Amino acid sequence: MSLSKYKPKSKLTSSDTKANPSSTTGIPESMVSSSSIKNASTKAPAQQLDQTTQALSQGDTVVDDSSFVHDAVLLQETVAAVLGVKALPKQTEGDVQNSLQLSGIYVDATFGRGGHSRLLLSQLADDAQLIVFDKDPTAISVARKLASEDSRVHVIHDSFATLTDSLAAMGIMEVDGLMADLGISSPQIDDGRRGFSFMRDGAVDMRMDTSRGQSVAEWLEQVDDETLANVLYEFGEERHSRRIARAIKQMHSYESTLELAEVIKVAHPNWQRGKHPATQSFQAMRIFINNELGDVDDFLAQSIPILKTGGQLAVISFHSLEDRRIKQFLQRHSKGQYPEDENLPMPPKRPRYFSKPKRIGPSKAETSQNPRARSAWLRMATRTDTAYQQTDAS
Ligand SMILES: C[S@@+](CC[C@H](N)C(=O)[O-])C[C@H]1O[C@@H](n2cnc3c(N)ncnc32)[C@H](O)[C@@H]1O
Repeated sequence: MSLSKYKPKSKLTSSDTKANPSSTTGIPESMVSSSSIKNASTKAPAQQLDQTTQALSQGDTVVDDSSFVHDAVLLQETVAAVLGVKALPKQTEGDVQNSLQLSGIYVDATFGRGGHSRLLLSQLADDAQLIVFDKDPTAISVARKLASEDSRVHVIHDSFATLTDSLAAMGIMEVDGLMADLGISSPQIDDGRRGFSFMRDGAVDMRMDTSRGQSVAEWLEQVDDETLANVLYEFGEERHSRRIARAIKQMHSYESTLELAEVIKVAHPNWQRGKHPATQSFQAMRIFINNELGDVDDFLAQSIPILKTGGQLAVISFHSLEDRRIKQFLQRHSKGQYPEDENLPMPPKRPRYFSKPKRIGPSKAETSQNPRARSAWLRMATRTDTAYQQTDAS
């Protein structure tokens, strides 16, 4: 069974119950005024933005994890890519003179602790706007604080898979630059309470958005051995998935990440030096429960209609399952190739929506300072002037 399209069940909180059934935003229908969509301009009325973000804050579970820090990866390179410049001007803190002072609308789809957002803001003019997304209530509370200090920032607590609907609800139909720094942040991993770590104890949760959805523990209670094994194989590339799945299903409860990691360790027949045997299984359950690959596919597809001609896409990924998807998406939409799946003798070529796809990795200096940057790849491309046709986005 292929699991790519199999989405984990979402348990909505009371604040989500009026979600617009025709969209995937989870924004209550009442917030998405039809006049704001019909009269969509690129400028969003500030009050409407604030109402939207406030309504979405109800029911959030905000954990204080301020003792954990996140070092933004490929920081200068990514911000330069989103802004469409080769390199950023050399700047000292608070130095406005050496800022690019660009106008326009930009999106940071994964705010985290705002490392990329803050550098982006330092290069933007007063009339620019930065829309930030995150699923994580704690990241969102940091973003809201930044928004209260900088009126150019607007916050959306939702998945970046809702990109075009969420922006349309704010009256924004196109943007100048779009970035995502995929995966989880250091505070999410380092805070054992979030359940992502096999090194620190906590409940087996692993949800990025703790305000809704099913935790891994809840899912493990009811999943069958075969589906669990398929998840471990498909999202963790774990070759011993069946044996590990059986061992996990024999556990009496899923209250401790350290216990779960120990069971996987004992069941794993082939340990690799320098790598915890639960690494791939934990990655798999995390990717599955947060629908990470499905969200990335949806986000990439929506980058085509939302980016202006000349607009920039920049995406950082940390594992091959994601990087492969981004690479293939940019290849499909930048080469003007014939579609592989058409049997017609001469099917029409795919439109060239992107030009200049490029990949950058971290420097040695960055990886020695921040080991988590080791597996990062930044892929970027520029939107061409080819008009978007609805059937061609996948
Ligand atoms: C690697 S961190 C980003 C760090 C950020 N660039 C910084 O400098 O602080 C990834 C963030 O993306 C968020 N995230 C992951 N998938 C998401 C999705 N589908 N929609 C919205 N946010 C997501 C996570 O909750 C996490 O906060």
